[in-house]
Amino acid sequence: MRVCVVGGTGNISTPIVKLLQEVGHEVTVFNRGQRGPLPAGVKVITGDRKQRAVFEAAMQAQHFEAAIDMICFDAEDARSTVRAFAGARHVVHCSTVCTYGVQYDWFPVTEDHPLRPISDYGRNKVAADRVFMEAFYRDGFPVTIIKPTTTFGPQWSLLRQIAWEASWVDRVRKGKPIAVCGDGRALHQWLLVDEAAPAFVFTLGRERCLGQIYNMMKSESGTWADYHRTAMQVIGREVELVGVPLDTLLAAKVPNVEICRDIFSHNSIYSPARLLRDVPEFRPRLSLEASIARVYEAMCREQRVPDSDLETWEDRLIAAQRRVGAQTLA
Ligand SMILES: NC(=O)c1ccc[n+]([C@@H]2O[C@H](COP(=O)([O-])OP(=O)(O)OC[C@H]3O[C@@H](n4cnc5c(N)ncnc54)[C@H](OP(=O)(O)O)[C@@H]3O)[C@@H](O)[C@H]2O)c1
Repeated sequence: MRVCVVGGTGNISTPIVKLLQEVGHEVTVFNRGQRGPLPAGVKVITGDRKQRAVFEAAMQAQHFEAAIDMICFDAEDARSTVRAFAGARHVVHCSTVCTYGVQYDWFPVTEDHPLRPISDYGRNKVAADRVFMEAFYRDGFPVTIIKPTTTFGPQWSLLRQIAWEASWVDRVRKGKPIAVCGDGRALHQWLLVDEAAPAFVFTLGRERCLGQIYNMMKSESGTWADYHRTAMQVIGREVELVGVPLDTLLAAKVPNVEICRDIFSHNSIYSPARLLRDVPEFRPRLSLEASIARVYEAMCREQRVPDSDLETWEDRLIAAQRRVGAQTLA
């Protein structure tokens, strides 16, 4: 099929574009042209999707048979996508499990779970999803919604639980302790981007996926303490994990702690059963260790491991936590 990927050079979308090409689709990406490179043979349309009329006219002029929208974040984006790809056979929209929020009625969370987003990101994705499902039921707009959980890859640095930052990797290398949230036992699911690509690519053109919503993750889960210990094995050194309460992390203004507050401090276990049933090509098999190793190798190769000696906040945080611990014991 003639497929447009809106985005296409991102963390998740890069392997999607590669796989689309490998299985024989004719691929075009639409982006602002700030990242790359793209595989040979992939066509590029440069533009900003926020310039709605230009974006929609450019997409309509191409008469794409299918599209994967990786950067649809709110109802306005969704309405624009519906207009841009009117007449297409299939459109896949990338949503998020943040649409469910963090107050769960059951585990693992299935697609029929109530939606109680706690962040603007989650609320806006709910609004976008609603636009698409209304278009499906009202006009037969051929959409499928995929809700990924944490999907990481070589474009990113190695994740950690308490914040969006990567100096912890160097701390491990240098034998310094690292902080986790609470007891580090919040449960999570991690998926490597390469293993996510088949979910998007093999949904396309599948009749039974039309009008469906799919969670996308590995069935297996682990604690963040497990995650960090697995990363230590990859990095080659074991260090102490120091538990710090979420309130303390917030009060200490840990850089980019919001990801922990909104997502990583909570148990978040979702069921991919529906996706595994309908898209059997989606079969994540890589171990967490192998997945982490792919990202760590990219960080080392591209010299993207930040020098932890230039960051002092984690030493101060851990020292303060040890003082509290000593007082409590006394
Ligand atoms: N990774 C996760 O853990 C996770 C979990 C749940 C949901 N998601 C969802 O996954 C999607 C992100 O996919 P990704 O990781 O591939 O994206 P990404 O890494 O953020 O890359 C964004 C892509 O879109 C392009 N782009 C950004 N703004 C644009 C604009 N205004 N107009 C045109 N192109 C634009 C970028 O290229 P240029 O900069 O060159 O324009 C790039 O190709 C989001 O919908 C997110 O909600 C991710």
